[in-house]
Amino acid sequence: MRFEQQVAVVTGAASGIGRALVQRLSSEGAAVVAVDIVEEPLQALVTELQGQGAKLCACCADVASESGVEAMLTTATSTYGRLDILCNNAGIMDLMTPAAEVPLELWERVLAVNLYGPFLACRRAIPIFLEQGSGTIVNTASEAGLRGGAAGTPYTVSKHGLIGLTRSIAFHYGERGIRCNAVCPGAVATAIGLGQGTPSQSGLERVGAFIHASAPSRVASPDEIAAAIAFLASKEASYINGAILPVDGGWLAA
Ligand SMILES: NC(=O)c1ccc[n+]([C@@H]2O[C@H](COP(=O)([O-])OP(=O)(O)OC[C@H]3O[C@@H](n4cnc5c(N)ncnc54)[C@H](O)[C@@H]3O)[C@@H](O)[C@H]2O)c1
Repeated sequence: MRFEQQVAVVTGAASGIGRALVQRLSSEGAAVVAVDIVEEPLQALVTELQGQGAKLCACCADVASESGVEAMLTTATSTYGRLDILCNNAGIMDLMTPAAEVPLELWERVLAVNLYGPFLACRRAIPIFLEQGSGTIVNTASEAGLRGGAAGTPYTVSKHGLIGLTRSIAFHYGERGIRCNAVCPGAVATAIGLGQGTPSQSGLERVGAFIHASAPSRVASPDEIAAAIAFLASKEASYINGAILPVDGGWLAA
């Protein structure tokens, strides 16, 4: 099994891509700390997989806060004794809102969850990796991190920033045994939203119309993205560092 004896932290674990990733990593031998801000579906997933013999635990935390990040990484080291894989996957959308219409609150929250959160987690995980002499990070960015027309302004900015964070860490820490890569999913069948409250009807219509008009004809399943993340996290990708991998069915090629 690819992840035997390894310990992984996965954020955004209660739903969509994160949920598929937890299932994949734990079925391939990893001990997993499954992190999400929403408690009930997170606990349900963990209980279900524990029932199948998987080694994992739940950590209910907000990745946008330093205390949340501290809790999830301490859970990994105190429960399983080490940390090998960090998957910064939690993310929220912005309802395709263009710059002039963005309320400051929306800007701050999208940046906090999608960019500051991964930065805080990397900043806390890297010293653990350096002490061990190895470790790998996979960030879930987006097509919106590679061009201007795949989302609204806050989301696009956050994902461009996440790609910059990925490359910077790869550059600064590659020689010391740490790899950092990112996947850029296209359209994936998940429940992604604002992460709080109910999206307005006009916002939902905007997202639906956009995906209908520009995405490839087939929308990905969460597991198709999880498979790419698991590959980048695995030893099979031992010479891949700083890569930004579109997983989009060819959307970017259009
Ligand atoms: N679905 C798509 O089409 C798509 C496309 C490109 C990129 N992505 C990216 O994939 C990642 C996963 O999204 P998804 O589509 O699986 O969405 P999802 O909504 O199904 O899952 C995201 C999970 O993150 C959790 N979360 C949100 N804010 C959090 C916080 N502050 N702290 C901890 N957990 C939090 C949510 O509760 C949810 O369980 C995101 O980073 C998203 O930007 C998704």
